[in-house]
Amino acid sequence: MEASLFLLFLLSFYSFISNIISTTTNVITTNHNITDGETIVSSGGTFEMGFFSLSGSSNRYIGIWYKQILPMQTVVWVANREKPLTNTSSVVLKVIKPGILALLNDKNETIWSTNTSRSVQNPVAVLLDSGNLVVKDANDDNTDKLLWQSFNFPTDTFLPNMKLGKNFQTGQDVYLSAWKNESDPTPGEITLHIDPTGYPQTVVKRGTSVLGSSGPWNGLRWSGDRVPPPNQSSIYKIQYVFNKEEVSYSYYFIDSLMLPRLVLTSSGYVQGLMWVNQTKTWLYLSLPPNTCDAYSVCGAYGSCDIDHSPVCSCLEKFVEKYPQQWEKGDWSNGCVRRKPFDCNKEHVFLKYSGIKLPDTKYSQYNTTMTLDKCRQVCSRNCSCTAYSSLDIRNGGRGCLFWFGELIDIKKISGGQDIYIRMASSELVSEAGSKRKMAKILAVSLSLLMAMFLLGLILLLYNWKKNKLKLKEEFELPLFQLSTITRATDNFSVNNKVGEGGFGPVYKGVLEEGQQVAVKRLSRTSKQGLDEFKNEVIYISKLQHRNLVRLLGCCIQGEEKMLIYEYMSNKSLDSYIFDQTKSKLLDWPKRFDIINGIARGLLYLHQDSRLRIIHRDLKASNILLDMEMNPKISDFGLARSVAGNEMGANTSHVVGTQGYMSPEYAVEGMFSVKSDVFSFGVLVLETVSCKKNRSFFDQNQSLNLLGYAWKLYKEDRSLELIDEQLAGSCHISQVLRSIQVGLLCVQQCPEDRPNMSSVIMMLGNSHGSRLPEAKEPGFFPEREVLEADKSGSQNELTITSIYPR
Ligand SMILES: *[C@@H]1O[C@H](CO)[C@@H](O)[C@H](O)[C@H]1NC(C)=O
Ligand SMILES: *[C@@H]1O[C@H](CO)[C@@H](O)[C@H](O)[C@H]1NC(C)=O
Ligand SMILES: *[C@@H]1O[C@H](CO)[C@@H](O)[C@H](O)[C@H]1NC(C)=O
Ligand SMILES: *[C@@H]1O[C@H](CO)[C@@H](O)[C@H](O)[C@H]1NC(C)=O
Ligand SMILES: *[C@@H]1O[C@H](CO)[C@@H](O)[C@H](O)[C@H]1NC(C)=O
Ligand SMILES: *[C@@H]1O[C@H](CO)[C@@H](O)[C@H](O)[C@H]1NC(C)=O
Ligand SMILES: *[C@@H]1O[C@H](CO)[C@@H](O)[C@H](O)[C@H]1NC(C)=O
Ligand SMILES: *[C@@H]1O[C@H](CO)[C@@H](O)[C@H](O)[C@H]1NC(C)=O
Ligand SMILES: *[C@@H]1O[C@H](CO)[C@@H](O)[C@H](O)[C@H]1NC(C)=O
Repeated sequence: MEASLFLLFLLSFYSFISNIISTTTNVITTNHNITDGETIVSSGGTFEMGFFSLSGSSNRYIGIWYKQILPMQTVVWVANREKPLTNTSSVVLKVIKPGILALLNDKNETIWSTNTSRSVQNPVAVLLDSGNLVVKDANDDNTDKLLWQSFNFPTDTFLPNMKLGKNFQTGQDVYLSAWKNESDPTPGEITLHIDPTGYPQTVVKRGTSVLGSSGPWNGLRWSGDRVPPPNQSSIYKIQYVFNKEEVSYSYYFIDSLMLPRLVLTSSGYVQGLMWVNQTKTWLYLSLPPNTCDAYSVCGAYGSCDIDHSPVCSCLEKFVEKYPQQWEKGDWSNGCVRRKPFDCNKEHVFLKYSGIKLPDTKYSQYNTTMTLDKCRQVCSRNCSCTAYSSLDIRNGGRGCLFWFGELIDIKKISGGQDIYIRMASSELVSEAGSKRKMAKILAVSLSLLMAMFLLGLILLLYNWKKNKLKLKEEFELPLFQLSTITRATDNFSVNNKVGEGGFGPVYKGVLEEGQQVAVKRLSRTSKQGLDEFKNEVIYISKLQHRNLVRLLGCCIQGEEKMLIYEYMSNKSLDSYIFDQTKSKLLDWPKRFDIINGIARGLLYLHQDSRLRIIHRDLKASNILLDMEMNPKISDFGLARSVAGNEMGANTSHVVGTQGYMSPEYAVEGMFSVKSDVFSFGVLVLETVSCKKNRSFFDQNQSLNLLGYAWKLYKEDRSLELIDEQLAGSCHISQVLRSIQVGLLCVQQCPEDRPNMSSVIMMLGNSHGSRLPEAKEPGFFPEREVLEADKSGSQNELTITSIYPR
């Protein structure tokens, strides 16, 4: 469970509300039916209950939502989530004897009802201000005598005062069950249980397969909480109970006027939210999910560390079980002890620190033993693989013992200690190295001290840098969601102008009449979020007439959008790859475009503050303004390289097929020269109006680069030119451009010119000779393991391709 909900800064968002005087009833009695259109309101005015529909559907449901934050209806509970109503004209919600609340149709058939094992004289249903709907006897306020309460049957929302968990006496299990999707409250497959098997832990599942687990409660928090809640807080309290009767987890805010909620989303994440009255939005409190959140990412004895690349590594003194698979990123088989231990031989327990404790499904515990006793007990039973302290408060108390393999271990800050059984020979080498270490230590204590300080400084520096980065991100003008919604006519399909790297792009008109392009991050895209951040970081710092200008952003709730100047002529590909529109681009215009792109790229590579490699230069990322000036867009994949560095290497190759240089696509080497390659492809495409990828010479199955080179070698380059250019063509300029294009796509990165030479060569009107182009680096299509069809129809944006 994500405890970051409980971040301390909440108070600053909090505002007092004056007493709400409720005039509506909060009680349903035996002679008061609720029909569609009627609502009841909790006594404090926080919650309201009645019939509702979700946008895009005519289904009617009975549910509970926040009254104060209308018109944004935030539903926290749904009664008939499995049985939606399509016609409510004669449906009523009523309390009937012996004590149930029922939804009945005109034939007096029960559509939905509560149940009870008891019968009372005067049953009523009351909506409490906590959001709990209870059925009870009108004259009995004893909370232990409730006939039924909605808090025992939550849907996807975990509210304060609700108790999740299991009652061992009645067998009742209170758990969250996510909606099928945002617009369908039917129970999906995702659930969140407090699973008491072994030792209790929170487990999120899809059907029966585990998606994530919190690890055990350690007295202060769940072992896997990424943001440990403070030990004590004056704002909220967390209550964890585990005894013979029950295991339960609940939280409540000291000030009941705050409106927090935890929601289990249909994708399986627990999201913490808090209503911010000033901005009228839900503030998201959870950290964004990361790879290490998934269950057992690194297999047995593997440890997931999100700050490392790759995220998985074996615990110390363990080795990959199947190194080849591991190399390829298949970590599921995990690790094994590098020295197998034999129960009949001697063994030791080695301490591993700073980790989220393993899955406790196969564990046992004792609440009173000391750590020393734990070791003795664990060492007596051969199948006991590890132990740890059960409760970390006051120096530790009790033991948790694991049986079998240890899975779902993570490296986290504020993690715990665990002691794992190892062959005693591991200790020998440990002791040996310890002795050696002591010697070295004596000699170089001062050095270590210095390194420690250095580490500290680096830590502080990084921290400061991150803070700065955040701040810089938000130095952009912020637009209100409502402004953008209005400007784009509520993101109407008619205003959709394209699909960018991370989501749809809409045209919009601001109130002042300014036209803008709005790029909306699709909510489902995890990669999209990274690209979004990337784009904000880079493009907000760049300004050049050949780069698209970012006007601001809009970040509200789950919505994230970037607002750009609108480019009325769309993108270059819409012209050059379109028979009719390509006529509109005569040669002088095309030459201007080629030069403009070159200048923009030169700025990125050399003149900007950041030295940026774009990595995804292609015709669809070149936008054209009213005067057909080209502007480079889409910095979602861009990378900055340090001042004197020319390039870098990545195992995660991103870009677009047909524009990627061979060394990048195959080896993951990217540099300014890989952009130069893409630029060369662009030049040849612009001259020929043919796509590099889709172009095939009938006989020889060459792509455009191969074909252009063949013609060039045979001195027939003019045949490459688009027929439409016949009239406007400036032969020597065209030939020069083709040659520059070919120079840019040469196989060897060192042979390719840099952008400043490109500009000189293009502009050289005196006809001095250009170097001869060598064979271009065109290569057969490679196996694409993971491709994402977010580019335009015929382009694949490769998100990952593994070099061989
Ligand atoms: C939120 O603001 C509205 C006025 O905009 C006010 O009526 C309401 O009481 C406030 N609610 C809270 C929880 O502060
Ligand atoms: C409640 O509905 C029932 C039919 O379901 C009707 O017979 C009864 O008169 C209604 N009571 C009130 C108070 O409206
Ligand atoms: C809804 O139900 C009522 C009563 O059962 C019926 O008279 C009415 O025609 C129904 N409406 C629709 C749209 O089906
Ligand atoms: C409707 O059904 C309930 C039980 O479900 C019964 O007590 C009640 O008498 C019925 N009312 C009518 C009008 O049939
Ligand atoms: C009420 O029904 C639910 C499921 O339909 C069941 O789990 C629960 O035990 C029932 N409660 C009582 C008090 O009968
Ligand atoms: C939600 O699920 C329903 C049924 O499973 C489906 O018809 C609907 O299209 C889904 N809506 C969205 C927004 O995914
Ligand atoms: C826990 O350990 C103590 C001391 O060894 C022992 O007396 C007690 O019975 C153990 N409790 C359980 C539940 O095993
Ligand atoms: C060791 O512990 C396991 C799991 O509790 C148990 O099944 C087994 O009987 C124990 N073995 C011995 C020798 O105590
Ligand atoms: C919270 O508890 C932990 C573990 O007992 C302790 O190390 C830490 O100092 C405590 N923090 C505060 C602020 O009391």
